[in-house]
Amino acid sequence: MGVGRIYRMLALTTREIALLVALACLYALFEGIGVGMLAPVLQYIEFGDAAPQSSSAIWTALQGFAEAIGLPITLGTLLLLAFIPIILRQFVYFAYSYYTARVQQRAATRLRSEGFAAIAHGDLAWVMHEGQGNLVSNLTAQVMRGGAAIFQFVQQISTSLLVTMYIAILLFLSWQLTAIAVVSVGLISILVRRSVTRSRRLGAETAERNNEVYTVIGERIGAIRLIKMLGQEDRETRLVTEVVRKLENVQVRIGISRGIIEVTIDPLQMLSVFGIVYVGVTYFGATLASLSLFLFILLRLNQKVKDFNVGRQMLSANIDSLVSVRDTISRAEDSRDIKSGARAFEGLSESIVFDHVGFSYQEEEGEEAVLRDVNLTVPRGSQIALVGRSGAGKSTLVDLIPRLREVTHGRVLIDGVPIAEFDLRSLRRGIGFMTQEAVLFNDTIYGNLVYGLEREPTADAVQKALERSYCLGFIEQLPHGLDTEIGDRGFRLSGGQRQRLSLARVFLEDPAIIILDEPTSALDSESEEYIQRALQSVRHEKTLIVIAHRLSTVQRADEIIVLDRGVIVEQGTHDELIELDGSYRKLFDLQIYR
Ligand SMILES: Nc1ncnc2c1ncn2[C@@H]1O[C@H](COP(=O)(O)OP(=O)(O)O)[C@@H](O)[C@H]1O
Ligand SMILES: [Mg+2]
Repeated sequence: MGVGRIYRMLALTTREIALLVALACLYALFEGIGVGMLAPVLQYIEFGDAAPQSSSAIWTALQGFAEAIGLPITLGTLLLLAFIPIILRQFVYFAYSYYTARVQQRAATRLRSEGFAAIAHGDLAWVMHEGQGNLVSNLTAQVMRGGAAIFQFVQQISTSLLVTMYIAILLFLSWQLTAIAVVSVGLISILVRRSVTRSRRLGAETAERNNEVYTVIGERIGAIRLIKMLGQEDRETRLVTEVVRKLENVQVRIGISRGIIEVTIDPLQMLSVFGIVYVGVTYFGATLASLSLFLFILLRLNQKVKDFNVGRQMLSANIDSLVSVRDTISRAEDSRDIKSGARAFEGLSESIVFDHVGFSYQEEEGEEAVLRDVNLTVPRGSQIALVGRSGAGKSTLVDLIPRLREVTHGRVLIDGVPIAEFDLRSLRRGIGFMTQEAVLFNDTIYGNLVYGLEREPTADAVQKALERSYCLGFIEQLPHGLDTEIGDRGFRLSGGQRQRLSLARVFLEDPAIIILDEPTSALDSESEEYIQRALQSVRHEKTLIVIAHRLSTVQRADEIIVLDRGVIVEQGTHDELIELDGSYRKLFDLQIYR
């Protein structure tokens, strides 16, 4: 991957990168001065004051400086002067480290919130398809590794600056020896690069395995009740262990490839050092001072080149995480193909009409359509029950109204207006939606009640909604009433209470249309009775579409729609359909409804 692409991938701002580069340059400068100061020190040790100064410019400057502040030139003062740039360098290094960490964390935060926004706005079907584990891992672990990639990228910049500076000093000392040094360092780098290619592959595999571990563990914890009940603890543990082992395996392979680099580099470096000593002494009559300085810098150069290569390796391993996160974000954004209309949705005055509606997932691949030629009119104020076997397409049908899914054929009209013409936000706000799983957040009862409401409801409105949804009774029993924390996903409430609370939220929103997707199928009959009564209390006032598994709900409906494999097969009141003796009768006899 090219530097340009990596750079774009990291999404650093120009200001951030400029400041980082400036700090890295300053660091390299002080490092250079500090190391350069060793030249006079070594020469002083070898020759004393009367040195045949080769680097006389440094000496003249030093002598001038020492005289000006009234210091005699001794070994002590020289060392002291050499120490000052080192101290300065460390200050710069601190600023650099701090800023790198900040930039890294800021970028990670940006990625996470951008990522979540993309997912939140993404198409529902896409989000469901991706799966919770995968998306969560993308926004947590993968982003973290992506953040590390940013750190490594910045580190690469500063390392290359240092490398350049060291080579400059070496050239200044002896260009012939530098030529030998650069050739040997270059050869070593080529060797290292080979193994980098391998690491990249392993990096991609790590990202994949990581996602797998997240998904597998997440799924199992979600299903912990079932696992316990079926006594599958050990089996699932084995399965998880197996997946984790695969991750371990990749990690070990990365370790090995890293180890091979470390082991081979050292002897090669020593070989080049010996070569330089030999050539320097034999052919160029190098002094001890110049040779030791040369080697000292060469060792530092070697270290930096090594850092650079290892950094490159880690960068390429982590960049894959970043690619995976970016990829998810862009796919989430691409999935968002629903365009909002302009017309504000202001309620229902006549009817909802399904006009030759069809829906399918992969049309071109000849898959069977989920819904076919559905024609249906839901008059304002009516209660419609939707029944049919599991997988018949009931949920899909109701999802079409708030455009959680888009029709692939035909149109859905509200008061004669195609729903695509409505402003999406106002359309969805005008529809109360409740599913089998009451969706609650870890907050107080009140917090859940007013979640997403445009303005704070009056105490009266809250009271009325709670009353109509039969919530007052149980809320009064709670220690802190409305301010009771309900815990993660509302675990402190029973299923029926959760469901009634969701219904209270729907009532409080006061939508024109209420859609309930199997609201009572997970409830006991007493809780169901409460929901029933709650629904009766809004009869004729709200338009209600309910997917039901319970006879009591279905019987009271104005009209029952029987859906089978995406087609409306029967339609009428309970008595009419029993009389008809068809699909509904069959479902009824099979005791699908209890
Ligand atoms: N993401 C998907 N890709 C392909 N088919 C799907 C997808 N989601 C659901 N289906 C299919 O759509 C059909 C209708 O599903 P659904 O509306 O949930 O049924 P119901 O609510 O009546 O049980 C089912 O046959 C199901 O297999
Ligand atoms: Mg369903």
